Amino acid sequence: MTTTGLNDRVAAKREVRRIKNLPTVPGIVAKISRLVENPETSAAEVGRLITQDQVLSAKVLRMANSAFFGMSRKISSIAQALMILGFDVVKGLVLTSSVFDMIQKSMAGLWEHSIGCAAASGAVATALGRDDAEEILVAGLLHDLGKVVLALNMPEEMDLIKSKVESDNVLFYEAETAVMDFHHGEIGQWLAEHWNLPESLAEPMRLHHNPERAMVQPECTAIVHIADSIIRGWGFGYAGDPWVPPISPAAWEMLKLKGKDLPEILNILEPKLANLSELTQSGS
Ligand SMILES: [Fe+2]
Ligand SMILES: [Fe+2]
Repeated sequence: MTTTGLNDRVAAKREVRRIKNLPTVPGIVAKISRLVENPETSAAEVGRLITQDQVLSAKVLRMANSAFFGMSRKISSIAQALMILGFDVVKGLVLTSSVFDMIQKSMAGLWEHSIGCAAASGAVATALGRDDAEEILVAGLLHDLGKVVLALNMPEEMDLIKSKVESDNVLFYEAETAVMDFHHGEIGQWLAEHWNLPESLAEPMRLHHNPERAMVQPECTAIVHIADSIIRGWGFGYAGDPWVPPISPAAWEMLKLKGKDLPEILNILEPKLANLSELTQSGS
């Protein structure tokens, strides 16, 4: 890497750290994390903290009751969501709800891409028989958050990246790397560090375009990578470029997926996407 490249990365990392327009996220997520570090903390206490922000808790409940999780009965309180879905899933939903407006403002179609990738991540995890499908789904939901920061805080670079995608027929992350020497995956990683997110969310955010480099959560990262391509191929949402990235053979093989698994994944995914329309409409 050149010195200029290194300087750019340091400057961009600083830029992410000083972003002021993500106010509720560090506050409430940090508070929840602190509360949960204490083994004595009950789900009801965490629930009370989230419920203090009524708009936020309404958004979280809306997602908890969406087709994502396919619950047979309605989840009516945050405490109940914590008991049924678990802490990490609810924390991911809090985080997503906190930045919902920003995701929508950043790039037309990115919110739909994010919830589509979440549903596809859950579908791949379910087809593989994993018992952590909900957690992997949240990783899919957050995977492109770096693009939100880029779009809202680095508009000049964003314009250059968009032109490069069109003129050079390259993928969005390749154009980012050519323009800035880093891409939204690395911005996502810096956000994850800043917000103290677990590696099960941080590594897919960083490496969903290079899943073969994942060391800590390789399977979760591979699932989000495959889900990203599936949902682009489906044509649900928009991720900043018209291309469908090829699926990494290493990721596919690591998960021991076979060609016959793809129709099963699509069968699980199709009804979920049809029922997620309530989350794609304006407001939350
Ligand atoms: Fe991405
Ligand atoms: Fe994506």
